[in-house]
Amino acid sequence: MKSINVGLIGAGTVGTGVYKILKDNISLIRKRRQFDVKVKKIADIAPTRKRAVKIPASLFTKDAYDLINDPEIDVIIELVGGTKIAKKFVIDALKAGKHVVTANKALLAHHGKEIFGLAAKKGLGVGFEASVGGGIPIIQSAMEGYVGNNIVSIHGIMNGTSNYILYKMTEEGLDFNTVLKQAQDEGYAEADPGFDIDGVDAAHKLSILVMLSWGKFYKFSSYHVEGIRNINPLDISLADELGYKIKLLAIAKQTKAGIEAGVYPALVKKGTQLADVKEAFNAIYVVGDAVGPTMLYGQGAGMMPTASAVVSDIVEICGNHCNSDSPLVPNLYAEKEKLNLVDLKDTSNKYYLRFEVIDKPGVLGSITGILGKHNISIASMIQKGKKGRSVPIVLMTHEAVENNLLRAIKEIERRKNLTKAKTLFIRVEEI
Ligand code: HSE
Repeated sequence: MKSINVGLIGAGTVGTGVYKILKDNISLIRKRRQFDVKVKKIADIAPTRKRAVKIPASLFTKDAYDLINDPEIDVIIELVGGTKIAKKFVIDALKAGKHVVTANKALLAHHGKEIFGLAAKKGLGVGFEASVGGGIPIIQSAMEGYVGNNIVSIHGIMNGTSNYILYKMTEEGLDFNTVLKQAQDEGYAEADPGFDIDGVDAAHKLSILVMLSWGKFYKFSSYHVEGIRNINPLDISLADELGYKIKLLAIAKQTKAGIEAGVYPALVKKGTQLADVKEAFNAIYVVGDAVGPTMLYGQGAGMMPTASAVVSDIVEICGNHCNSDSPLVPNLYAEKEKLNLVDLKDTSNKYYLRFEVIDKPGVLGSITGILGKHNISIASMIQKGKKGRSVPIVLMTHEAVENNLLRAIKEIERRKNLTKAKTLFIRVEEI
């Protein structure tokens, strides 16, 4: 039986999970695929750290180049994270003729073009199933399952931490900071949650799905990225009254103008599949022109789900693509095509607007007058509170061009005696 040797760089939580699957389930893989996979060496800066599974000390080295330069290793698994040293390991592994498996979404979001280009030139595979949606097989679906489709749209809940926070805020009526603290205490959120709650992690994942779905790499800084820090219990309860939940969505759509893509909180109709995604689960709703709507759902993080995806990459690369002239590597076929990433300011949406106003005669009329002047039509309205005090007014708009909305809000906020605080707007997603 053919045997594949892998070298694992980074034996933290996920790396330990990979070792565990390759130990516990290897006989299943042998039976299914007729080859063996062995972890030949592991590089980690802390070989003796406490792990959920015991790994023989003899496998460890502190030097990743003991793996990259080992002629007997076929596949390097990069699980160190970040974009600096991880990039060096991946590039050097490819230069040394190794296939690469990585869970590193930030690395691919920033350097995917270079990495895939080098791999293709060398006839090597790059597996990255674990980089989006943890254990959910979305990468394989994007590369193979949807291959006969023009992708119409992608709506993903792809950051478990922010979904968990919004879910708890919605279910328990708590504010953002209280839930974030609880989530950190319970291990759902990192001590430094910036990438998660500011939408960056979801945007890294979105950029990877855009690359696969439309064959083009866009500079990461050109994606629109918003997080959930500004969402408060008042908006969650007003949205609920209007029949919506607030979710952090990673969205990409093909339109006549190009690809509209970004990460932002959005109102999603209650009772729809995405609105019902609970706790830290991930879900990716993809519409293809042939297949229609589909949804993949599961655990987007954690030791065993993420390790499951890494192992699937190793087996896929080695089973179907090792030594083949069609290595497992995405083809950025549209790089030279004129397919723009559309600025969200030029897109049209329905909006939830919350103005904080002094409740006195004429205020509402002035606001709707300015909105009308900018071609923004109101679909419904809620006003809360007592006369004479600062009160929230919520307006739901019909479809409007975002730039017009921004101009209208600017004019409303510039007018004396209309608003008392910054106006909040949240896009409404009809899915
Ligand atoms: N921190 C991410 C999340 C998982 O909360 O979903 C890794 O990308």
